[in-house]
Amino acid sequence: MQVTSLLPPKNIYEDRVVNFYAGPGALPFPVLERVRAELFNFNGTGMSVMEISHRNPQIQFIIDDSAERIKRLMELGDDFEVIFLQGGGSLQFLMVPMNFSNAGDRIDYIDTGYWAEKAIKAAKTLGRDLEIIASSRDCNHTEVPDLNKIKLRQEAKYLHLCSNNTVVGTQFHGFPKLPIPIVADMSSDFMSKVIDPTNLSCIYAHAQKNVGLSGVTVVLIRKEMLAKISDNLPEFLDYRTHIQRKSNYHTPPCFSIYITWHILRWIEEDIGGLEKLGAINKKKAETLYRCIDTNSLFNCAVEKASRSDMNVVFTLPTEELQKQFIEEAFEEKIVGVAGHRTRGGCRVSLYNGVTQEAVEVLVEFMEKFAKKH
Ligand SMILES: Cc1ncc(COP(=O)(O)O)c(C=O)c1O
Repeated sequence: MQVTSLLPPKNIYEDRVVNFYAGPGALPFPVLERVRAELFNFNGTGMSVMEISHRNPQIQFIIDDSAERIKRLMELGDDFEVIFLQGGGSLQFLMVPMNFSNAGDRIDYIDTGYWAEKAIKAAKTLGRDLEIIASSRDCNHTEVPDLNKIKLRQEAKYLHLCSNNTVVGTQFHGFPKLPIPIVADMSSDFMSKVIDPTNLSCIYAHAQKNVGLSGVTVVLIRKEMLAKISDNLPEFLDYRTHIQRKSNYHTPPCFSIYITWHILRWIEEDIGGLEKLGAINKKKAETLYRCIDTNSLFNCAVEKASRSDMNVVFTLPTEELQKQFIEEAFEEKIVGVAGHRTRGGCRVSLYNGVTQEAVEVLVEFMEKFAKKH
């Protein structure tokens, strides 16, 4: 008897779909190829990375080299510590207030929809004096507040914002100098373009969108923020523990960090850095927005200056047409175009692993669909 399900696909290239999932999402194909080649024997160890002890120097090298590559690619200099944690973006919703403020302290937040609200809800459980100092709720989160016009509270310990709003499709495109430290949840636009880190004091991002797999979260902390951490935190939840132990305090998510390492190498060595990657990502977003804006069947309600280059949201005139659009796309092997369950409509995610060719396949399908309806 032939057990076909255990056989490799006839042609792995032909069998792949065009993937626009919002995360976990598409990975760069060269990275998948390299991981496949190393799966049974990583760097002469005779083991896959999944099988190596986290105390082996090979794993520590992957961790340290990944941190160095992030610093180099983002031109962070020596001002920042880079660590790899578990618990996703969601644990950072708690670790940020626990590390950078104490009970009763003022902390300011911006509400830009779903994930920003989750961060607010989590921080509110910790007994801080939390205030939402700006919100996009009035316009149903179709634009982000102007950071040059917000009113911060005196002595607030930090301002928390979500730089790219995965669910509602908005993005802050820059960060001005503010009188208090800015903490940015960059889970859905980390390492997708050049950013100026000068005015940011902490950046966190889970990996499963632009830099790898779920299981690892990258946290960048400006060194001067470390002096503010209280000594009463549980050791595990104190950022300094993980800095001192080089992200190897307990068993790290070795395989997830290894994939991040491969993606960083791909960005640096194949693509040629964040400026080039940013140009590729910009072109993908422009191609898709052009298609939406020139076909009356599609509507993107997000105000132009706030549009996200990572998550493009749009609607069709009726629920039925939307359903048909998503189903027909699936038949064409285009997956992941349904909107978030709380928002409906369609959403296309254009993370680092998505190619310009993939976007062109989608646009061709959209134009055909628009002509038919
Ligand atoms: C911007 C943003 N922040 C935080 C999260 C939550 O991350 P996690 O699922 O890793 O806890 C998400 C999830 O998609 C997100 O998009």
